[in-house]
Amino acid sequence: MGLKGDTITIHGGRPLRGRIELKGAKNLVTKAMVAAILGETPSVLRDVPDISDVRVVRGLLDVHGVKVTSDEEGVLHLDPSNVESAHMADIDAHAGSSRIPILFCGPLLHRLGEAFIPDLGGCRIGDRPIDYHLEVLRQFGAVVEKQPSGIRMSAPNGLKGTKVHLPYPSVGATEQVLLTAVRAEGITELRGAAIEPEIMDLINILQKMGAIITVDTDRVIRIEGVDRLDGYSHTALFDRNEAASWAAAALATEGDIFVGGARQAEMLTFLNVFRKVGGKFDIADDGIRFYHPGTQLNPVIIETDVHPGFMTDWQQPLVVALTKAKGVSIVHETVYEQRFGFVDALVEMGATIQVHKECLGGQACRFGQRNFNHSAVISGPTHLRGADIVVPDLRGGFSHLIAALSAEGTSRVSNVGIISRGYENFIAKLEQLGADFVLEG
Ligand code: EPU
Repeated sequence: MGLKGDTITIHGGRPLRGRIELKGAKNLVTKAMVAAILGETPSVLRDVPDISDVRVVRGLLDVHGVKVTSDEEGVLHLDPSNVESAHMADIDAHAGSSRIPILFCGPLLHRLGEAFIPDLGGCRIGDRPIDYHLEVLRQFGAVVEKQPSGIRMSAPNGLKGTKVHLPYPSVGATEQVLLTAVRAEGITELRGAAIEPEIMDLINILQKMGAIITVDTDRVIRIEGVDRLDGYSHTALFDRNEAASWAAAALATEGDIFVGGARQAEMLTFLNVFRKVGGKFDIADDGIRFYHPGTQLNPVIIETDVHPGFMTDWQQPLVVALTKAKGVSIVHETVYEQRFGFVDALVEMGATIQVHKECLGGQACRFGQRNFNHSAVISGPTHLRGADIVVPDLRGGFSHLIAALSAEGTSRVSNVGIISRGYENFIAKLEQLGADFVLEG
């Protein structure tokens, strides 16, 4: 969604109430689109959200000759019959700051014998490195060459199954292994795999295409390479991160939101924390209703972690609700080293939050003693006041929206276009939920 002016003025203090519907998970849909390259026949993907990350992948598929069409809302047809190499400049132009080009490498090496990725270094992606990805691809036999304009990869002898042990259960690196191993010659054993529901759904898709993938206990995944994969027909898993965001919005604004399409199984950990904070929820067959209890909220101590732990993408919206809880909450972020930048705006709005370099409230993590502000202490309850805020990133941005919606007075929130990277039609949803705001421009 192109948001004119990218700024909204929010008059806070009105509870969000009503029903919204989720579509497929951003963090699955974008990978499922890449998987279509591996098929000899076209694929169909349903429940695709209209978000800018999907548009980025669509553009990248387009420059690689994959025809993507849509004759129905939320349904993509992906035809990889004419996959071709793309110019680095075209890839660069479409990728923006997205990390998704790295996941094109395995499938393109199988189809074309070469792949290019733009220069992913530097501030464009913050400090999120791609070392695991490059190491994995090398292990399969890819030759990785750094060139002035980016990275070129080739597979002069084809790709061969291998044993991989990830130093950390990285979501992206696990997807890299899956998307590469399914067509590699022989068997691949992956240890230390990420097992997020989005990864399991990607495995469902690859199995539909003809792959042989066994998920064992203790984060071990075995893949037997096959000679041919066909297209798939699949309805994407719902977006758990969006569900958790609206749940936190219900709590922070003292509202009541039915999130259509949300399911219990994939949100178990979130629901436990939501309940401990004092939030109420009712689970139905077609979604989950999240609502404020009408009484004081409780503080919690949480640690973000890989699945089945509390997801890192859930903490930012929840922190806003925790500013309203009575007592001291602690959030220890163990997945990303720098994910508390968004709290500065909350403090400006009246929240009492301190960030610390120490590992607080849980086990010591790999960021301890390394000068990263990765623990937050939130003291409440505090009343937030309206402010002028510039949205920094996707999840931090959504939390700023919630903060402005729950604050007393008026806030001007700019750069909100970034939120449409991962939240479909969030402006229309805010309207549906009765938010009081004006879109500028
Ligand atoms: N890491 C490395 N080297 C690598 C790859 C990762 O050190 O080569 C580190 C990262 O720096 C990070 C940790 O490993 O500290 C975990 O990163 P991971 O690879 O698991 O994350 P990702 O695949 O880049 C996906 C989601 C994120 C989500 C994380 C964790 C997508 C497109 N993104 O990122 O979602 O937070 O997994 O679950 O799937 C979001 O939706 O806003 C978002 C950031």
